[in-house]
Amino acid sequence: MSAQDPIGVFDSGVGGLSVLRALRAELPREHFVYFADTGHAPYGEKGDPFVTERSRAILDELLEAHRIKALVVACNTATAAGIHLLREAHPKLPIVGVEPALKPASVLTLTGKVAVFATRGTINSQRVATLRDSLQHLAQFVLQPCDGLAAAIEAHDREAVRDLCEKYVREAGTFGSGEGEIDTLVLGCTHYPFARDVLQSLVGADVRLVETGEPVARQTRRMLDAAGLLRPAPGRGGCTLLTTGSDDHLAAAAQRWLDA
Ligand code: DGL
Repeated sequence: MSAQDPIGVFDSGVGGLSVLRALRAELPREHFVYFADTGHAPYGEKGDPFVTERSRAILDELLEAHRIKALVVACNTATAAGIHLLREAHPKLPIVGVEPALKPASVLTLTGKVAVFATRGTINSQRVATLRDSLQHLAQFVLQPCDGLAAAIEAHDREAVRDLCEKYVREAGTFGSGEGEIDTLVLGCTHYPFARDVLQSLVGADVRLVETGEPVARQTRRMLDAAGLLRPAPGRGGCTLLTTGSDDHLAAAAQRWLDA
């Protein structure tokens, strides 16, 4: 593996483009190979064995066909289900995962009440339970599984996105900056930043929405730097888009959300 090789990034679909956007801003000289597993999406309601099997297969393909020098698992569900298995299988490969931002949210909240929107797989994971328990003294977390929301965003179905956001905001509780209200909302699925405007309008301008693209991009830079794998200047990076679904669908999403 060399500094000139690309960085692999994958998600169940187009959600990881929210992470890729941050990666491209942080690492403009790098080349990225983005793999959208749309043919097998959504991951969130399918269970760990399915998700870990897909993650393994995607990583193998990215290594064999694209000789990636690092992997970003741009999917909270896949990270929670089995990033440790990917690391065990490839101990020399830098692998960065995405985790719902409970920790930053626990610092930001003033009311001490934080909602976490994520897939059912992520919400039910041991990783999130451990994280929540470790921060219990700082904030109370309302863990809200959002079945169907990633799929609606994937399909770019605006009406379904709005209906589901309304439903889950209602279920989570009262949002606002008053005592006992939820003043911080963690977007714990990489698809959800693409519903950010809808969510913000529903919870109100006082509520902070927290996502993970930028910290993940910074962490990726740190890991590459430590491994001596940052692409040297001069040079401009690029992006290759791959999918198990429709190429047109991914290209349209990239156009919409990435300006690619
Ligand atoms: N974007 C993914 C995540 O961050 C998964 C969404 C899904 O396929 O259910 O969890």
